[in-house]
Amino acid sequence: MIANAAGTPVSITGLGCKVPDRIVTNDELAKHVDTSDEWILERTGIRERRMADPSEALSDLALPACRDALAQAGIEGKEVDLVIVATVTPDMMFPSTAAVLADRLGATTAAAYDLSAGCTGFVYALAQGYGMVASGVAARVLVVGGDVLSRILDWEDRSTLVLFGDGAGAVVLEATQEEGFIGFELGADGAGGESLWLPGSGSRLFDESAKYVKMNGREVFKFATRILVQSAEDLLAKCEVSIDDVDLYIPHQANMRIIDHATRKLGVPSDRVVINVDRYGNTSSGSIPLALADAAVDGRLQPGRLVLMTGMGAGLTWGSTLIRWTKEMAA
Ligand SMILES: CC(C)(COP(=O)(O)OP(=O)(O)OC[C@H]1O[C@@H](n2cnc3c(N)ncnc32)[C@H](O)[C@@H]1OP(=O)(O)O)[C@@H](O)C(=O)NCCC(=O)NCCS
Repeated sequence: MIANAAGTPVSITGLGCKVPDRIVTNDELAKHVDTSDEWILERTGIRERRMADPSEALSDLALPACRDALAQAGIEGKEVDLVIVATVTPDMMFPSTAAVLADRLGATTAAAYDLSAGCTGFVYALAQGYGMVASGVAARVLVVGGDVLSRILDWEDRSTLVLFGDGAGAVVLEATQEEGFIGFELGADGAGGESLWLPGSGSRLFDESAKYVKMNGREVFKFATRILVQSAEDLLAKCEVSIDDVDLYIPHQANMRIIDHATRKLGVPSDRVVINVDRYGNTSSGSIPLALADAAVDGRLQPGRLVLMTGMGAGLTWGSTLIRWTKEMAA
């Protein structure tokens, strides 16, 4: 689906993020599987990633991110109408991590649910949150993107182990007098689902032997390089915006080679691209909000700036959104 954001203007009024304290280097992974710092750096651009402590679940990472986002928006948990958590690694299948978070935040009158769209989840959740606020159904929506992928990685599979990391980010969506969200392009291709999947995790099969991520790296690479460009170009055309007018490009952080390809094809100058894959690896639904937080800290996320975000991942899914940033960010 593709559309201009034609309802009441909606924007991001608060932002927070959290990564686990533990840094895992490429050399550390090379003690477990047949790989090397050189190979990982050259093929992915990843230097290190964060991994959660065994006692930390997604809600533990997401909670401080949510608190920071609410504080920046100047609202309390009890004022939130809806909590959406985009993830493939909820605390458990049910209750939803969104319900757990709503409780811990005191969001007693909020609706809460998790959303499964792989690494695209955060962009999908932004679209849903936008729709709820723009239509007047909700006034304040808390959107969380985060994953603890280290929990579902096979420590004997070098082709997946080296790619992923843990982290979470949260944003508050509210109506605004200014422009805010401009448009969305979202899609899914279930035919490609087996390129990146967790086969033993549901009602088809719930099984110890299939509880880790399985991936056809080459297929996902081909998909990613194509879709990051196509989704962004389709959305820019729909919104009648030139790539030259985009001030900040935030692609999903899967692999530096994929990001470089998309950046080159789209024609985005490198100083307008936000990168965190080198420090965090692929944090799935966390990657885009973590990158937004980086851009806030380095001063690039300013009111009036046009921000293009594009995600892609398991499903296979993809999604882009354009937003005219409206909030003054404290560094
Ligand atoms: C996984 C990925 C990094 C592999 O890089 P690549 O350049 O395509 O490498 P290939 O798959 O062609 O494999 C090349 C060789 O490296 C080996 N290899 C794979 N992982 C390795 C690792 N961690 N360390 C060392 N060697 C590795 C392969 O076994 C293969 O060996 P072979 O030639 O003897 O068969 C790359 O395909 C990729 O990033 N794909 C997208 C994955 C992704 O982003 N998933 C999440 C999307 S949300």
